[in-house]
Amino acid sequence: MDLGQNKVIDEGKQGEATLIEGNAPSNGKKLYVESYGCQMNFSDSEVVASIMSNEGYTTTRNVDEADVVLINTCSIRENAETRVRNRLTEFKIKKEQNPDLVVGILGCMAERLKKALLEEEKLVDLVAGPDAYRDLPNLVEEVGTGQKAVNVLLSRDETYADISPVRLDQGGVAAFVTITRGCDNMCSFCVVPFTRGRERSRDPHTIVNECKDLFAKGYREVTLLGQNVDSYRWNMTSKGEIKDETQATTNFAELMEMVALISPDLRVRFSTSHPKDMTDDVLEMMAKYENICNYIHLPVQSGNTAVLERMNRSYTREWYMDRIEAIRRIVPGCAISTDIITGFCGETEEEHEETKSLMDWVEYDYAYMFKYSERPKTLAERRFDDDVPEEVKGRRLTEIVDMQQAHSLKNNQKQIGNIDRVLVEGYSKRSQDDMCGRNSKNSMIVFPKGDFGKGDYVMVKINDCTSATLKGEVVSICPKN
Ligand code: SAH
Ligand code: SF4
Ligand code: F3S
Repeated sequence: MDLGQNKVIDEGKQGEATLIEGNAPSNGKKLYVESYGCQMNFSDSEVVASIMSNEGYTTTRNVDEADVVLINTCSIRENAETRVRNRLTEFKIKKEQNPDLVVGILGCMAERLKKALLEEEKLVDLVAGPDAYRDLPNLVEEVGTGQKAVNVLLSRDETYADISPVRLDQGGVAAFVTITRGCDNMCSFCVVPFTRGRERSRDPHTIVNECKDLFAKGYREVTLLGQNVDSYRWNMTSKGEIKDETQATTNFAELMEMVALISPDLRVRFSTSHPKDMTDDVLEMMAKYENICNYIHLPVQSGNTAVLERMNRSYTREWYMDRIEAIRRIVPGCAISTDIITGFCGETEEEHEETKSLMDWVEYDYAYMFKYSERPKTLAERRFDDDVPEEVKGRRLTEIVDMQQAHSLKNNQKQIGNIDRVLVEGYSKRSQDDMCGRNSKNSMIVFPKGDFGKGDYVMVKINDCTSATLKGEVVSICPKN
C-alpha cells in the first residue's frame, strides 16, 4: 500500500486482513474483506470490519475459511471494474462448492451498478453502497433467509463518525482517517460524485479522538482523507454561514492544527488537496507545525486551460501555477505530487504539450498518470466524444511517464547529503538486513537495521538514490518526546 496517498494504489490490491477478534462474543463466523481502489475504500473496509466484529464476526486473511466474503470495489476507470468482475467470477466458483458462502459487493461499483450485479449477472448475493455499511449485518441475515439483499441508499449525513475502525494492519505505524465523504465537485470525467454522493464533513472531535487513540496504540502517522480536504468544514454551510451559533466552527486548517497538537511525535499528512480550494492558511499551518509533513498531493489533471475547462476543474493553468508558487513560498522544500489524465476528450497535440511544459516547470516529486477512461453517466460521457485514439492516449502517457521518471530521479538526487528525520515503518521488502521509512517529504528511504524498531524516529543521512527510493544510514536515534 502506498502510504500517505489517497490514491488508486493499484486497481486490484487485496486488503491486508489479519485475524482480528471482535469486541462482541464470537458468533463463530469468519469474514474476509478484499479492497480495491483508493485509500478511502481501504479505510471504509476497516469500518466494515468494525461493524461486523460487533456482530461477532472475526476477520480472516484466508478466503477459504470465510463464511462471508465482501469485496470493496472501485469504479474510477473501466479496468478497475474489469478486475473486480474477474475476481467475482472466481468467487462464483467457490460458491458453487460451498453454497452457504455469502458473497457481497461493496463500494463504488456496488453503488454504480446497484441491482444489476444481482439480477443480470448473478455474481453476488449482497450489494451495499458506501453509505449503507451499518446495514450490513441485516443484509447478511437477509441472504441467510434465501433473499438477495441490496442497500445502495446514499446519505447526506452518514460519516461513520462514531465507529472506531478495526485496523486491518495491526501493529502498523501509519493509519488513514476519513474526514470528509462524498464530493460536490463535478469534474466531467469523474464517477465519484455518483458513487459517493454529496460531500459531508465529519465531527472534528471524533476525528481527534480517533487520532489520539491511534497514537496511544503506537501509530505515529495519520493521513487525513477526503476527495477534497480543503473543503472540510464543520458547522458551516458551503457559503461560510454558521449553522449552529452555540457551537464552534472548524475549517481544514484548524482541524489540521487540532490533530497536530496531539503530540509532536504524531505526524500529520492529508490527501487530496484541490487546486481550486487550497488556501494559504492551510500552507501557513503546515509551516507552523514541524509534525505536519511537507508534502502536498495537488492533482492538476492537465496543463492546458481549455482542457481544464472541459474537465470542469474550475481553475486555469495560471491559477494552478500560482498555487505551486504559494507552496514554494510558504512551505519551502515541500514535496509536490500530482495526478494527470492523458487523452481526455478532444485533447490536441498542443494541449498535451502544455501538460508536458507544466510538468517541466513544476518538476513534481511524484505523479500518478492515467489514460482517460470514459465513465457512464458522467458529464464528459454526455457532452463530449471520447475521440483520442487508444494508441495516442498510450503514446502520450508514455511520454509523461518518462518525463516524470526523470523529474523523480532529479528530485531524489537533490536530497543526497541531507540528514532527515525518518519514521521507521518496518523491514525493507528486499532484505531483512534493511529497514525503511519516509521523511517528511514522503520519500521512501532504505537503511541498514540497527538498535531501533518500527515506530521509532531516526535521523538518516541520505547517500544514494534511484528514481523511486533513497538509500541512507542512520546517524542517530531521536529521543521520544
Ligand atoms: N478527488 C481527487 C481525485 C480522486 S480520483 C481529486 O480531485 O484530485 C483519483 C484520480 O483518478 C484523479 O485525480 C484522476 O487523475 C483519475 N481519474 C478519475 N477519473 C478518471 C477517468 N475517468 N479516467 C482516467 N483517470 C481518471
Ligand atoms: Fe472526482 Fe473531481 Fe470530486 Fe476529485 S474533485 S472526486 S476528480 S469529482
Ligand atoms: Fe475511490 Fe474508486 Fe470510489 S477511487 S472513491 S474507490 S471510484
